[in-house]
Amino acid sequence: MSSPLQALDQASNQAANPAATFDVAAVRADFPILREQVHGKPLVYLDNANTTQKPTPVLDALQHYYEHDNANIHRATHLLSERATKAYEGAREKVRRFINARESAEVLYTRGCTDGLNLIAQSFARSRLKAGDEILVSWMEHHSNIVPWQMVCEQTGATLKVVPITDDGELRLDELERLLSDRTRLVSIIHVSNSLGTITPIERIIALAHARGIPVAVDGAQAAAHLRVDVQALDCEFYAFSAHKMYGPSGIGALYGKRALLESMPPYQGGGDMIASVTFEKTTYNTLPHKFEAGTPNIAGVVGFGAAVEYLSGFDMQAIAAHEHELQARATAALEAINGVHVIGKAPRKAGVLSFVMDGVHPHDIGTILDREGVAIRTGQHCAQPVMDRYGVPATARASFAIYNTHEEIEIFARAVSKVGAMFG
Ligand SMILES: Cc1ncc(COP(=O)(O)O)c(C=O)c1O
Repeated sequence: MSSPLQALDQASNQAANPAATFDVAAVRADFPILREQVHGKPLVYLDNANTTQKPTPVLDALQHYYEHDNANIHRATHLLSERATKAYEGAREKVRRFINARESAEVLYTRGCTDGLNLIAQSFARSRLKAGDEILVSWMEHHSNIVPWQMVCEQTGATLKVVPITDDGELRLDELERLLSDRTRLVSIIHVSNSLGTITPIERIIALAHARGIPVAVDGAQAAAHLRVDVQALDCEFYAFSAHKMYGPSGIGALYGKRALLESMPPYQGGGDMIASVTFEKTTYNTLPHKFEAGTPNIAGVVGFGAAVEYLSGFDMQAIAAHEHELQARATAALEAINGVHVIGKAPRKAGVLSFVMDGVHPHDIGTILDREGVAIRTGQHCAQPVMDRYGVPATARASFAIYNTHEEIEIFARAVSKVGAMFG
């Protein structure tokens, strides 16, 4: 068996190298937090599927907004309100361009991916579902793409159906085809699995559903910062994602929806800004997208989101994907060379996530020991308990990669995991 470092070199030689042009040193300079020391060691941040770090342009945009423009939006006639409104709506246009939506009215601000999926469940699905109808999800969904559907099923008498996955963590397309039926009202599927890293064949899934006239919602939380997302090319009905996983602030995200559907859906929440007129006899609703944005929103968050999207737009998404793929290949090769380590999730198409377990070591112990080495990973169920059950493990350790991670960091990570093996072995 080769050593982890030999395995790293092998992986490096084997990898076609379109990522070579990616200037990771320049990228790192944009992220002040990467200069932190943890337990006296340089921070190696490999918990990016959980949340990403924030670059200076995002931090500056937040500070600038509060120092110069802070006011409520859409309401006042004064200059600051005008500037805040312009920043808020300008960010919507940046997000529209980033996902290639037809028009910015199809981009709704949400609290994040979870909020977006709940919006679809409570506005789109609840108003349409009846007893006997079915919603289809996959076995590798995050709880955010399971529980909102269970709730709406309870409310309406509909049933949740689950597409199984293979041992490698690939979606069973044959089973998806078998489960699609005249009763299926919506397919809601992950784009990239947060627990396994699998990139689902989302184009094929959408084509299969559309062939039966069934709309598709996509959970894009783990895809938006790692793959090129083009909602028009995908032709999905909905696409939900979170800013904090794409170098933006937490508590803000977006839901893309096709205009015709959004027009036909009842509001998600009632309150200020989402109305055209209110009387005790009858209230009428605002136009899109405001119909779905009740109350004072997270304006600063939106400004930061816009800055994050602008920052990401400065990169070639293919170069990002290639860079992260290479990190993943090197990390996988290194871990597989360590006795007792088992990688969970071996789909041929993966993005940025490496889950693993180690014989005789609880994942929480791996996480704790790695932390002492300065390496931040996540351990646990990753809000995907059915996936853990599918593999018969209580939890996994998960390293996840971003634009600022380096080959040296992968070596530090692999050495730290070897150390865990030596301590328990
Ligand atoms: C695949 C996936 N979907 C949904 C979510 C929920 O995202 P948020 O907590 O930002 O709403 C996550 C978060 O980890 C995720 O990984």
